[in-house]
Amino acid sequence: MPTALITGASRGLGRAAAHALARRGWSLIVDARRAADLTGAMRGLAGVIAVPGDVTDPGHRARLAEAASRTGRLDVLVNNASRLGPSPQPPLASYPLDELSRVYDTVVFAPLALIQLLAAPLTAAAGAVVNVSSDAATEAYPGWGGYGSAKAALDQLTAVLAVEQPSLRCYAFDPGDMRTDMHQQAFPGEDISDRPLPEAVVPAFRKLITERLPDGRYRAAELMPSGARS
Ligand SMILES: NC(=O)c1ccc[n+]([C@@H]2O[C@H](COP(=O)([O-])OP(=O)(O)OC[C@H]3O[C@@H](n4cnc5c(N)ncnc54)[C@H](OP(=O)(O)O)[C@@H]3O)[C@@H](O)[C@H]2O)c1
Repeated sequence: MPTALITGASRGLGRAAAHALARRGWSLIVDARRAADLTGAMRGLAGVIAVPGDVTDPGHRARLAEAASRTGRLDVLVNNASRLGPSPQPPLASYPLDELSRVYDTVVFAPLALIQLLAAPLTAAAGAVVNVSSDAATEAYPGWGGYGSAKAALDQLTAVLAVEQPSLRCYAFDPGDMRTDMHQQAFPGEDISDRPLPEAVVPAFRKLITERLPDGRYRAAELMPSGARS
């Protein structure tokens, strides 16, 4: 039975991905900071180990690794949990550096720490790392310099990891706009009801991990059945 560890699975993309994989027989290890939300989100799914906690906490990461070792195999690590920063997002000239540090802790250091902790079981399974990115990593939108630069660091980390770890598949996955809490936080007070639900992105995510595509940075739109990747 393939096993995936998905961070930030209590709502949004993480929850949608967890449900899609669990329905197809995957075993899962999942987290989120709010235990009750995580338990509620996973209700009714079989084969799920829920480990509530904060990915920036080394003790919590150790508990995730322990859960992975108990399952005996780990095929996919999905670094999905994220932090936007202040809402509304301030320009870089006045960006509070203590908050920027927290954004980097969640978006860059925690994913790398999990990769370091889980490299052995992932390699043994010839597995994959999916680091969830954003178009803010590659586009210079005003106000997006904190979150966007952190996602850019995550992208580069993914690319270097790919050449250093040829037996692992390493992906940066840009889901595109989704109607989620984080998106609403990024656009406070705006009507985001025209954005697609995260479930719409899941077929692209599944294609990435089930077809063992080459290492790289992928936009969900390119991976959809009607989209062609050059
Ligand atoms: N939504 C978009 O339009 C969009 C666009 C591009 C990229 N993305 C990326 O897509 C991914 C998913 O975003 P989303 O929109 O689905 O977010 P979301 O709906 O806000 O969900 C975030 C999830 O992560 C958990 N989480 C947050 N911080 C955490 C931490 N420190 N430790 C553990 N869990 C944590 C949250 O639960 P708790 O709060 O209980 O911890 C929740 O389960 C993120 O990497 C985001 O940057 C989103």
